[in-house]
Amino acid sequence: MKKLVLTLFICVCLLFLLQAQEGNLIRIETRNHILVYGVTKGQQLQQVYLGEKLANTADYAKITGKKQEAYMPFGMENVFEPALRVTHADGNPSADLRYINSERHTIDANVTETMIQLKDPQYPFTTTLHVKAYYQEDVMEQWVEIVHQEKQLITLYNYASSMLHFNATNYWLTQFHGDWAKEMRMETAPLTAGIKVIDSKLGTRADEFEAPFFYLSLNTPSTENTGELIAGSIGWTGNFKFAFELDERHALRIISGINPFASEYQLNPSEVFKSPSFIFTYSNNGKGQASRNLHQWARKYSLLDGDQSRYTLLNNWESTFFSFNEAKLGQLMGDASKLGVDLFLLDDGWFGNKHPRNGDTAGLGDWQENKEKLPNGIGYLVKAAKEQQVKFGIWIEPEMVNPKSELYEKHPDWILKLPNREELLSRNQLILDLPNPQVQDFVFGVVDNLMQAHPGIAYIKWDCNRFMTGMFSPYLKKQQSHLYVDYTKALYAVFERVRAKYPHLPIMLCSGGGGRIDYGALKYFNEYWPSDNTDPLERVFIQWGYSQYLPAIASCNHITSWGKESLKFKTDVAMMGKMGYDLQIAHLSEQELLFSQQAVKTYKQISDIIWYGNLYRLVSPYEENRAVLMYVNNNQTKAILFNYTLHTRFDEVFTNVKLEGLDAHKNYSVKEINLYPGSQSACPENGKTYSGSYLMKVGLTVSDATPLSSSVFELEGME
Ligand code: GLA
Repeated sequence: MKKLVLTLFICVCLLFLLQAQEGNLIRIETRNHILVYGVTKGQQLQQVYLGEKLANTADYAKITGKKQEAYMPFGMENVFEPALRVTHADGNPSADLRYINSERHTIDANVTETMIQLKDPQYPFTTTLHVKAYYQEDVMEQWVEIVHQEKQLITLYNYASSMLHFNATNYWLTQFHGDWAKEMRMETAPLTAGIKVIDSKLGTRADEFEAPFFYLSLNTPSTENTGELIAGSIGWTGNFKFAFELDERHALRIISGINPFASEYQLNPSEVFKSPSFIFTYSNNGKGQASRNLHQWARKYSLLDGDQSRYTLLNNWESTFFSFNEAKLGQLMGDASKLGVDLFLLDDGWFGNKHPRNGDTAGLGDWQENKEKLPNGIGYLVKAAKEQQVKFGIWIEPEMVNPKSELYEKHPDWILKLPNREELLSRNQLILDLPNPQVQDFVFGVVDNLMQAHPGIAYIKWDCNRFMTGMFSPYLKKQQSHLYVDYTKALYAVFERVRAKYPHLPIMLCSGGGGRIDYGALKYFNEYWPSDNTDPLERVFIQWGYSQYLPAIASCNHITSWGKESLKFKTDVAMMGKMGYDLQIAHLSEQELLFSQQAVKTYKQISDIIWYGNLYRLVSPYEENRAVLMYVNNNQTKAILFNYTLHTRFDEVFTNVKLEGLDAHKNYSVKEINLYPGSQSACPENGKTYSGSYLMKVGLTVSDATPLSSSVFELEGME
């Protein structure tokens, strides 16, 4: 039986191999788009086509015009930004990549992996291009593997994951930039001749200024529902680079990968350099479709346990900061229980004895319970939480150290810092030398020791509160240019160990807000902290930004005391992702508490639509003084619509909002939910029933002009 299955599998693979290379073309397809490579007589691999599939497969062979080398190396004829630059063992600074062969593996009914081997005719130097195609989701992943058998080591200066070529009349780039507390500001501009670079040189907290996501719109600027574009990202938790080069023929190349800046990499014979994945989707129907493709892909293939459920929680950070004791925490756990959330999350400040963590100046690195604050230790807290019928979670920042810590005193050689220079502190802390295997053991041990001692811990928040400056790795000695790359590799090695032992332990990815959010890290994390800025007005924009790439299930949206908006507005904003609290529950009025308790219940009833449904962004806060979005479940029987009125002008008039993603032939009841106790819906359509066609063509009057007001609607398909 096994043999038969194996033979069948080989046949299917061969069939794919034949199909893939039919007519000297390598076709890599998803449901709606295709990437086609061709091989010239001189064995050069060229990109022939990328875009919407043509109706007739034979037409790809007819494509004329100057085709471009698929993965352009430096040193021979290419005078543009290269994908690859290498100096061979004998000092020759050029590479020539010629096609050797290609093969395709069918991973399952939805996923194929195509490998195209390229080799330098004069050197035992091989670069293999990999393309994984996710058929249903319309997503592709590209990476390279570089290996050589030269006599000595070679040096890689450029080692992109992907190079893609475009020939459009015009190009618009949408990028996401920001800083602490102002993450994911979206900006679109036309590309002009030359090179536009979006990159990071920040190392640990790589995405603080630029996020590793972009849209490239072709020919015309794209909207939510119109326009041709690709949405791209890199799965690398470290320095990244996207270079968009528009040349003299108006052709555009996108070169994506690790940022090679200050990172030349020496490769020993037989050692494989594997680049991270560049992930992209193509859409002919604007950004909304691209986001939905990526959300579906991320839930299934990138985000850890993307199809599972999540915990609602109460965090103590903003209500106590570093100042708490067992009694206070006991009271907060009681509040979590009263509120009805699943879990209580203890934040920073629970550790350090010789140098207690009573502020951000000391204790980081000393992961033992502070005896004064917690005389009975974590075990007591886990038990106390259980008694309150909530789960218990805990904050760590295991890659970092305060100079005022026992860890610093014991292991000064475990820390990244320049010789002969003053230590460059940020938030009073330094970064551990993670490439050092002993440090990796230590960092893994922070999680493992906690979990071994307290298996009842149900959640971890993994923080990272500074980026790299003035770095030198005592462990890497003379190979300092490997630091940025090896740090990230070491981080992944630690994450792998954590996940091998605790595969489903929920862990939040945090970096002083959203300083480290990428598809590479999210393989190991269940959710992320978008920003320390929880003012709901700001959050509408920040969450809007992340929603372009990441599914709502992963976005930890907390209701806090930031911002003067009403509790109702804050709650409605938090509900559009994974809702949580970081609020003094004891300070809520009776009405506020009642509203919040009901909100938690309501959220639990509707969260599956938000978590696993399809997102339709209906009105952008960048275009109007409001934001409206909705989630529709897969069989179009249920939808949740969120409507936020932002700051309005005098006599602001809002038009009807046309819904999307519904079944035109189905009837839906419209019900405003999450109303504040005692208030009534002001929406004239509330309580009525409309066809999907009506809702999508005529729409609803969901918004009123009251600044900073909001509403949530539930739509239910009628039998
Ligand atoms: C970072 C996080 C916050 C909080 C603090 C604790 O800033 O983003 O949520 O955990 O660290 O020091």
